[in-house]
Amino acid sequence: AGVHHYDFVLKEENFTRLCSTKSMLVVNGSFPGPTIRVHRGDTVYVNVHNHGNYGVTIHWHGVKQPRNPWSDGPVYITQCPIQPGSNFTYEVIFSEEEGTVWWHAHSNWTRNSVHGAIVIYPAQGTTFPYLQPDGEEITILGDWFKSDLNLAVEELLDSGGNSALDPDAFTINGQPGDLFICSKETTHHWLVDYGKTYLLRVVNVAMNALLFFAIAEHNLTIVGTDGAYIKPVVTSYIMIGPGQTMDILVTTNQSLGQYYMAARYFTSDTLEYSSHNYPKGNATAILQYRGNYTLTSPSFPTTLPFYTDYNAGLSFMKQFRSLASQDHPVDVPQNISTRMFVTTSMNENVYNLHKYLAASLNNVTWIDPTISVLEAYYRNISGFYTTDFPDVPPEFFDFLADSLGLDVTQCLRGTKVKIVDYNEEVEIVFQSTNVFNSSQNHPMHLHGYSVYVVGLGEGIFNPDEDPKGYNLVDPPYVNTATVPKTGWIAVRFRANNPGVWLFHCHIERHYTVGMNTVIITKNGGTPETSMQDPPPYMPSCGSSLFSY
Ligand code: C2O
Ligand code: CU
Repeated sequence: AGVHHYDFVLKEENFTRLCSTKSMLVVNGSFPGPTIRVHRGDTVYVNVHNHGNYGVTIHWHGVKQPRNPWSDGPVYITQCPIQPGSNFTYEVIFSEEEGTVWWHAHSNWTRNSVHGAIVIYPAQGTTFPYLQPDGEEITILGDWFKSDLNLAVEELLDSGGNSALDPDAFTINGQPGDLFICSKETTHHWLVDYGKTYLLRVVNVAMNALLFFAIAEHNLTIVGTDGAYIKPVVTSYIMIGPGQTMDILVTTNQSLGQYYMAARYFTSDTLEYSSHNYPKGNATAILQYRGNYTLTSPSFPTTLPFYTDYNAGLSFMKQFRSLASQDHPVDVPQNISTRMFVTTSMNENVYNLHKYLAASLNNVTWIDPTISVLEAYYRNISGFYTTDFPDVPPEFFDFLADSLGLDVTQCLRGTKVKIVDYNEEVEIVFQSTNVFNSSQNHPMHLHGYSVYVVGLGEGIFNPDEDPKGYNLVDPPYVNTATVPKTGWIAVRFRANNPGVWLFHCHIERHYTVGMNTVIITKNGGTPETSMQDPPPYMPSCGSSLFSY
């Protein structure tokens, strides 16, 4: 397996979009940032030099980092920030992933400008489980905020979490495209030849938006998601949540010179659609055939669902199955030893006599500790977290899902983690409670693992009936699993990765106000089943007591 070295220099630079200029932190001067390319099984060392003016961490989203939580990145979960003027080398260990994942900042809202794709080719000497594509293209779906985002977030928290923080445009590879003001000159063009099959690697890096995406007159064949292969799904549009990735084959078999590729936000919150200032415009790029074409203006994909088309989002999600082939087998846990029922809610929090908007899992809003959970756990330092993440029985779902249940609009605050033994088979059922009828689908992302999504349904989970419909044969294997706004999902994983792993909603607005917990997987009995020791150069948490 190969070893690669990268240097990431973080620095403020000026960027202009929508006729307005702002300074933002980027990696190596580029936005989106550099692509990392590896083969399955490789290891990458990324030396991150912070030349900006605030602390930052980087996360390798979808890379399981076996036994190596020290390089996972989420701030105050596995490390403290890399301070301006200092650096930290991440050791990124690729094990079973194949396809596309990505990297991004995991502190404040810096990931809006600090992100890039990670391409993982099959291990040396092996091939794709589909015909070798003629070429490939990275398509990063993101969003653009005219304001300084980290300032805007402070305002959000000061205002009690109620300001909307909507982007001013959505983007494809950093550009809003033809349909936004002042953007036509810089629209991204994807140049293709006629009669080929390309692999499109799509990443949704947007802060808060699930997105629909389509290409005019071209079918999409999805062959992978979240760094794992799936049985091909042929579709005319996709729905992709923040954090998710999809590998898509596109055959260039059309007769005109240009076609729009377009992304628009998908909101399951009709209130948000009508009351917030979300850009109703569509981000576009142009699929452009090389050769002698009369360039008519590109056609727009008519298959792109409407913004609030909840069923278009839900029915899309239900199509995914793992490839489950001989070369890419599944390992779906069948003997569950730890079962968790977890509600996802948006709530209010009474804090210092002010009401704050909060988010919760099992009615607990997460509060970050002042040193990382990982450090406190590893060094056995008490006082920074508790191990009483609440267990609720499924009967509780009914109660919490009742939007009139007054108590549930106010949640507890705490730093409550869940501890599981090494190699336990874990099932988690997530129930969306939609307390204010103004919630959203929640893309729940687990660090350190992928999970099998064995069940997905509408309404309240029924523990007697719903498990009968589980797919235990070829469920999709993902790092980000979306809980439908008015429904539930059941996920399973084997706890074979010792470490401290963040579990959170990848809608940044929800994560910022506490929609997360931490799952600690204990060591097994041997060195090979135990967490690595920390590198000697972890960023300090500012207290001399705990500096390395
Ligand atoms: Cu994409 Cu916690 O990360
Ligand atoms: Cu959420």
